[in-house]
Amino acid sequence: MSRAAIIGGGVIGGGWAARFLLNGWDVAVFDPDPEAERKIGEVLANARAALPALYDRALPSEGTLSFCGSIAEAVEGADWVQESVSERLDLKHRVYDEIAAALSEAGFIASSTSGLKASDLAAKGHPVVVVHPFNPVYLLPLIELSGAPALCDRAAQVVTSLGMAPLTLRKEIDAFIGNRFQEAVWREALWMLKDGIATTAEIDDAIRLGFGLRWAQMGLFETYRIAGGEAGMQSYLEQFGPTLSWPWTKLMDVPDLDQALIETISRQSDAQSGGKTVRELERLRDDNLVAILRGLRRTGSGAGGVILGHEATLPEGGEIDGLPITSRRAVPVTWTDYNGHMNEAAYLELGTWATDGMMQLVGADEAYIASGKSFFTVDTRIRYLDEVQRGEVLSVTTQVLQGEGKKMKLFHRAFKLDGGLAATIETLLLHTDLTTRRACPPEPEVAAALARYAKAHAGRSAQGASGAVGDRP
Ligand SMILES: NC(=O)c1ccc[n+]([C@@H]2O[C@H](COP(=O)([O-])OP(=O)(O)OC[C@H]3O[C@@H](n4cnc5c(N)ncnc54)[C@H](O)[C@@H]3O)[C@@H](O)[C@H]2O)c1
Repeated sequence: MSRAAIIGGGVIGGGWAARFLLNGWDVAVFDPDPEAERKIGEVLANARAALPALYDRALPSEGTLSFCGSIAEAVEGADWVQESVSERLDLKHRVYDEIAAALSEAGFIASSTSGLKASDLAAKGHPVVVVHPFNPVYLLPLIELSGAPALCDRAAQVVTSLGMAPLTLRKEIDAFIGNRFQEAVWREALWMLKDGIATTAEIDDAIRLGFGLRWAQMGLFETYRIAGGEAGMQSYLEQFGPTLSWPWTKLMDVPDLDQALIETISRQSDAQSGGKTVRELERLRDDNLVAILRGLRRTGSGAGGVILGHEATLPEGGEIDGLPITSRRAVPVTWTDYNGHMNEAAYLELGTWATDGMMQLVGADEAYIASGKSFFTVDTRIRYLDEVQRGEVLSVTTQVLQGEGKKMKLFHRAFKLDGGLAATIETLLLHTDLTTRRACPPEPEVAAALARYAKAHAGRSAQGASGAVGDRP
């Protein structure tokens, strides 16, 4: 078990605490704010509802969260120190003096700074690496790294193990890459607002209904390449390059954030979003991000690829009551319905994941399917035995009821963490030749593995199996 020290537990420190805890690290927090514990508790509740929902496998068991009375106490014995105090260089330097006094010999300080250079942060001889996250830290994968190359490499390994995607800056610059973009767009938005061209709500619509949708999945250059049509990037540059010198942009200039502009923005923003609390907006944002990220995982694009890479490192397997665990996962928000609990169709999806798990165990894996053989489902009966809420972790065991000839009959049991049975899913599959689309016997090694499971599971109770719709105990 590894241990992270979180120094400064506001918006970002709270997000880091959640990211570490939900990946199985113990976390020690120091923040002088008497409200820090409550605030981190709320961020953690949001994170628990969101991060596990990205994965089709369970994350490690959550680590332990503790609050410390001093920086020294939090840093003592820590494998990672993440500083996320307010963005003031003098404050950060003072905090680093205290951290350095308690830091292990090989240790370094990771700073969440949004724009201060690593060389300025490390000016007093402390080993500091910029490890810049994006809010919410528990959902967005990008981490910008800057500092001594050896320390950046070590930092990259740790953030990768947390399911994040490190991007090491090739040159040290203020504000790094992501925030420079955001500031460019922000400046342009402020001009449009000041010049009366668009309101806060209209500017947000222009982003989220149009190019914002493209950016999450292909970024800027790939998007423009497609915009160039069949001739691609060169055609795009020839066609639209000259427009850059048209008087479209005021990017080099910044509007005065005077009282009048601040009041206009605040009034419009209240009208646009004032009906919801910040926590409500955060939960809405997280639900939307989970849905988008789950969409991206299907093709492995952008952040979806990061999730798939991390998921492959999460442990699988195990047994309950002598039966193999064929699927273990948290219930994502996308599986819940208007009644607030897991939707009936999601129980079937859970069963298909468990069937896939059993197929892997008997050797009917990706390579086998690519060779032209698979199992097709012909009959399924689901018993809905208990309500399941979003975020609950379900472990599914599989009993092979029949495994001979073309037939594979499975009995899945979905257990909650407290051991309660949430559902059983009984399913019959026929082994199929993918070229002829007709049933056929499996290859000998798959048939043998299936027969071994069937023999080992024979004679066990299978209460609830082989009944008709409506049969209840
Ligand atoms: N908010 C963002 O979107 C964002 C994104 C990426 C990075 N960052 C960076 O993360 C850092 C923190 O930003 P934030 O948005 O979480 O600010 P915040 O104001 O929410 O949190 C700062 C926290 O630091 C605490 N603090 C102050 N002095 C301290 C001390 N001596 N020791 C320990 N804690 C102390 C405060 O009590 C507060 O809880 C900044 O460097 C910021 O630039 C912010």
